[in-house]
Formats: sequence, structure tokens, C-alpha cells
Amino acid sequence: MNKKYRRAIIAGNWKMNMTPTEVRDYAAELKPLIPKEKLCDIVLCAPAVTIPAAVRAFRATRVAIGGQNMHYEASGAYTGEISADMLVAAGAKYTIIGHSERRAYYGETDADVNKKLHAALAAGLRPIVCVGETLDQRETGAACSLINYQLSMALYGLDATTVRRVTIAYEPIWAIGTGRAATAEDAEEVCRDIRIFLRSNFGARSARAVSILYGGSMKPANAAELLACPDIDGGLIGGASLKAGEFGQIIAAAQETARMQREEDEAE
Ligand code: PGA
Repeated sequence: MNKKYRRAIIAGNWKMNMTPTEVRDYAAELKPLIPKEKLCDIVLCAPAVTIPAAVRAFRATRVAIGGQNMHYEASGAYTGEISADMLVAAGAKYTIIGHSERRAYYGETDADVNKKLHAALAAGLRPIVCVGETLDQRETGAACSLINYQLSMALYGLDATTVRRVTIAYEPIWAIGTGRAATAEDAEEVCRDIRIFLRSNFGARSARAVSILYGGSMKPANAAELLACPDIDGGLIGGASLKAGEFGQIIAAAQETARMQREEDEAE
């Protein structure tokens, strides 16, 4: 197991939920559940207007706040859009890029994802780039080639050093919000394939340093099994991140897995 080279990350994606007012109660409930020992990074990706309130509510904790989307241009006539620098100014440290809901409902293309990724990195954000297949693509055996294509487009123009600042989230579209998570075996198979892609394009050192998350109906009941997979380094959690108690349980599962893996690594 070579997980010691990368961070475990538990990231919540609140989607279009959680007002600045609601975030206070949420933080009050989550804070006591945050373990002191830093065995995994904790991120909450908030709606843009909620970011400053979330940053305030989690100040002096180890919870980092992220955005859910951003525009690739620095500024200008793009009504309704938000730049990477604006996310940074609001206190965000991370941003999700290329979530399947953005691709499906707002026509975001692989080329857009690539431009956003470069802009996010230039602004000093830690991007979480989402890839994943539809049920049709899975059933026709096209999942891995599709994901390789999404990755080659998303990561185009990055070098072996810069790619280490990127986190990849494998989110099978059929598992998002459906209550039907991928089995640990299926999720690991794709995440291993993503790592192989990274190795052949950026070299072994970068491949082992990039955190790969699984997303799609991750919850307290299945988190430990998914997180124990050798190529799954964390989770991107939608529905279950809206309940502080459930999110806290997933963080606890990640901490426990990271602790066991650290012991295993030390014994090697
Ligand atoms: P879910 O969403 O956990 O509600 O399935 C995951 C995501 O869309 O990031």
C-alpha cells in the first residue's frame, strides 16, 4: 500500500443547498465531530454566496471551504459567473471542476474543464476534477476509455509537478444521488485505471501523489469499505454531507482507515 504519498480527503458537495444562515447550525453540529488528529483533509464545497459564512463558521478548525464551480476567465462580461480569484478572495481553498451536473445541465465541455483547471491552479486553488460514466456507457463496457478521454482532455497542458496539486474525483453518474453506490470492487477498478493513466502520462511519482476520490451515494454505511480500497483516497459526498452527523461519521471512517493504513505502512 503506498497511500502514504498522498492525502486522504473527505469533501462535501452541498450543491444548491445551505444558506449562509443555515451554515451556523451545521458548523455547530459538525465541529465536535472533527477529530484532532489530522489523518484526512476535510473540505466543504459551498454555494458561492455561502462561502464567506462557511469560512467564518469553520475558522480555527481544519475544515477548508471550496467552491463548486468557477469561470475560466479572470474577469469581464460574464453575467452570473464567478472567477477563481473571487473564490480565493471569499476564502475558498478548493474548487470542484467539471461535476457531471455542470456537464449535463449547463453544457460544460471537456475543453471548458481544462481551461477552468488551468485558471484554478493559476489562482492557487486546489481543484477537484470530476470524471465519470453514464449507466449506458458502463453497460456497454465504455467506462474506462471514456474516463481516460475525460482525463486526457481535463489534464491537457499540465506537467508532472503541477498535476500533483490536482485531485481527481471518480463519480459514476448512475450512482450520484440515487442511493446506489458503486461496489467497492467496481469503484476500485476505475480508480486503479485512473492511477495507471496518471502513471503513463505523468510518471510514477506524480501518479502515487495524486489523491483519487470516489463520489456517488457515499454514506456512513459504505464509506469504510470504499475508503479501504488501495486506489481510493477519499470521497466526494453530496447528500450525506448535508447532515453534519452523517458527514462526521464518514470523516471518522476515513480517519480510521488512514490510521490502519499508516500502521500497515509502518510495519512494511
Ligand atoms: P451524492 O452526490 O453523494 O448525493 O450521490 C455526490 C456528488 O454529486 O458529488
